[in-house]
Amino acid sequence: MSLSRVENPCFLLFLAGFQALFILILYRGGATSVFRGILEAPRALDYSRTHDVYSNLSLFTQAPNKDTMRYCAAQSPIFVGPLTISFNMLPSERTIINKNPFVQPGGRYSPPHCLARYKSAIIIPHKNQEKYLRHLLYYLHPFLQRQQLHYGIYLIQQAGNTTFNRAKLLNVGVREVLKDEDWDCLLLHDVDLVPENDYNLYICDEYFPKHMASAVDKFQYSLPYLSFFGGVSALTPDHYMKMNGFPNTYWGAGSEDDIAARIQLAGMKIARTPIHLGRYKMMDQEQTAGREELLRRPAPLHDTTKTWRDDGMNTIEYILLARKKHPLYTNITVDIGYIPRVLSKSAKKGKRG
Ligand SMILES: *[C@@H]1O[C@H](CO)[C@@H](O)[C@H](O)[C@H]1NC(C)=O
Ligand SMILES: *[C@@H]1O[C@H](CO)[C@@H](O)[C@H](O)[C@H]1NC(C)=O
Ligand SMILES: *[C@@H]1O[C@H](CO)[C@@H](O)[C@H](O)[C@H]1NC(C)=O
Repeated sequence: MSLSRVENPCFLLFLAGFQALFILILYRGGATSVFRGILEAPRALDYSRTHDVYSNLSLFTQAPNKDTMRYCAAQSPIFVGPLTISFNMLPSERTIINKNPFVQPGGRYSPPHCLARYKSAIIIPHKNQEKYLRHLLYYLHPFLQRQQLHYGIYLIQQAGNTTFNRAKLLNVGVREVLKDEDWDCLLLHDVDLVPENDYNLYICDEYFPKHMASAVDKFQYSLPYLSFFGGVSALTPDHYMKMNGFPNTYWGAGSEDDIAARIQLAGMKIARTPIHLGRYKMMDQEQTAGREELLRRPAPLHDTTKTWRDDGMNTIEYILLARKKHPLYTNITVDIGYIPRVLSKSAKKGKRG
């Protein structure tokens, strides 16, 4: 009798349908994301209708009694989905400060109306890009407040005139921000990228390092290549230490492949924000025209399998020059040194050998 049920075409069809649904759920990254996606699709993903990043933020007002404050709602009540972003007008610092009355010195914030569920540190490597920074702060502060996060924005400023070293600045940033607070999540954020959708949550994945900037307008809203981990990413302090942080030895660009390799070597995978949510606008695309090439440039000759344990968080050296609380961010200025001669020689030798 059970045999005849299995052979029944209706039953087989039912089974196949069930399987297809299951695969869809797995593919989309869990049941909640499938159903949430379907429920909110019309508003959250309609990029032809955008909203002001400050809209309804004024609904978050100071709770009368801090001691009886409840946890924030699991989903923010003021989400709008796609945001209106333009870099035509450079806002003044005063404007940004006035529009964000609850931000504390050093760029720190806690929701005034509820207890935050997550604590995220935003770490921005920086070198002489004040204009980009101001555009970013104008959008990022309200964006993070919409998500009801407890957060701090940190600028890791490279002193001197040596080549920019993004990966090393991030290592410095992680070490410095963890002195301040026991953050749940470290958001490593380029200064020239602005998130386009407030459902793109600035919190960490529980298991794996999460790449957030999965769809940048400059790359036609798709990944430039498969192991791409640049732009914006989110790691827990545990993830970061497990992979010994980022390499200190890539000056200029090219650390991307090394970082992707480290994630694997440390026994993890890259989690990724789905491309319909992980959308970003890049500033001044003409001026950063060389950037795409830099990002695609093959890494210099480093064998990550050999170097990752000896080059990273455990070997970082720098001099902390200043740590100042600006009204909108904490400005950490560091001397991270020069390109070491020995290293460039050995890299050349390796190439010939
Ligand atoms: C702001 O909140 C009001 C009342 O809750 C709502 O009707 C309106 O749609 C919200 N505006 C936006 C842009 O979400
Ligand atoms: C950096 O500045 C120092 C002194 O200001 C100068 O001697 C050096 O040549 C500069 N290096 C580069 C790469 O511009
Ligand atoms: C950060 O601090 C350094 C050292 O005080 C200063 O030179 C630099 O202009 C500051 N940068 C920003 C963007 O505030």
